[in-house]
Amino acid sequence: MTKIFFCILLPLFIAFSQTSPTTGADTTLVQSIKRNPMKLRSEKLSHFRFYWHDIATGPNPSVVKIVQPPANKTTPNNFGTILMIDDPLTEKPEADSKLLGRAQGFYGQASQDEVGLLMAMNLVFSTGTYNGSTLTILGRNPIFEKVREMPVIGGSGLFRFARGYAEVNTITFDTKTGDAVVEYNVHVLHY
Ligand SMILES: *[C@@H]1O[C@H](CO)[C@@H](O)[C@H](O)[C@H]1NC(C)=O
Ligand SMILES: *[C@@H]1O[C@H](CO)[C@@H](O)[C@H](O)[C@H]1NC(C)=O
Repeated sequence: MTKIFFCILLPLFIAFSQTSPTTGADTTLVQSIKRNPMKLRSEKLSHFRFYWHDIATGPNPSVVKIVQPPANKTTPNNFGTILMIDDPLTEKPEADSKLLGRAQGFYGQASQDEVGLLMAMNLVFSTGTYNGSTLTILGRNPIFEKVREMPVIGGSGLFRFARGYAEVNTITFDTKTGDAVVEYNVHVLHY
């Protein structure tokens, strides 16, 4: 009898005692949640390289000035100017190389002592696995320094919870027209 109790009845008692509280439990106080409801896999580090094209000239400019400092105020280094961008991102420095996505957002001249931009942009990818996923960059860009670093502060789609940084260096910059090609090396942690 003792043996039967331990082998058959005890497991049943345990099973019932574990399931019964859920019916009468105080669900306003405590609710059990799944440990990994979003099915996140382990975090990985990815490196992306692409080229960012600021096209100020021609019939379809990808950058337009939207804020001009007041004409009767003299601001050093065009401080206060803001430009909106929808810049192509390509695989190679050449403008006609494969289009990978676009950089959409704006940048403004936020430094009085030099050209130091505040950049706020979403990189929206349009190819392969990452089609439709975005990365958001918000950072400071002193454009005449050789390498500038800006934080990646988040993302969407396959880049949910992303964080990282972009190191950027200018490939070409035409000071007369404003046309520029900039190499982006982006390291991001994401799932
Ligand atoms: C500068 O121009 C703005 C807009 O035209 C005007 O409202 C403002 O009074 C001017 N300021 C000065 C100091 O002239
Ligand atoms: C990317 O996604 C858009 C919208 O879903 C779709 O129209 C387009 O064909 C896709 N492009 C590629 C290269 O998969």
